[in-house]
Amino acid sequence: MRTLLVVALSALMLGNLSTSIAAGEFDGQIKARQAVMQLYAFNLGLLGAMAKGDVEYNAEQANIAAVNLDALANMNIGAMWPQGSHAAANPGLTRAKEENWTNYPAASEKSKAMKEAAAKMASDAGNGLDALRGAIGPVGASCSGCHDTFRAPKN
Ligand code: HEC
Repeated sequence: MRTLLVVALSALMLGNLSTSIAAGEFDGQIKARQAVMQLYAFNLGLLGAMAKGDVEYNAEQANIAAVNLDALANMNIGAMWPQGSHAAANPGLTRAKEENWTNYPAASEKSKAMKEAAAKMASDAGNGLDALRGAIGPVGASCSGCHDTFRAPKN
């Protein structure tokens, strides 16, 4: 039983080792920040579908998505953006332009704009379709406002 456990553990560790050797230096951080972006998009997608009328407005669901987005926007994700993890140095793995680091104050302003828009959405989304519609423009604009400058185009 003990031997089995040791064998299983060694296999697990070897497995981990080979993954980390094969992976790029910043693979974990890049995947994590892309996952956060996917979560932004998922929650905003639900709100957008209601705003457009593709999905029937539901105050509770709208509120949940908006509160989630607000929580995500307020997460400190700094550790997912290590120096050197930009697109030119990690081709095919990331679309983050080097400007995210060389022009950091501007990038951080873009995050701040998203936080503000997400906070407004979190307070408005559950108050009816018109309120949701009024809040969604600035949220979408805060996403594209950053992408336009700080995300490289798709290859
Ligand atoms: C401060 C800048 C900034 C803001 C604000 C921002 N993004 Fe991004 N986004 C990026 C960057 C940079 C990338 C590329 C990340 C990478 O590939 O490492 C990205 C990538 C993405 C991706 C692709 C993720 C993947 O799987 O590769 C999606 C989807 C996305 N963003 C959605 C959003 C949505 C929705 C919002 C607004 C709620 C948003 N982003 C706000 C900078 C931002």
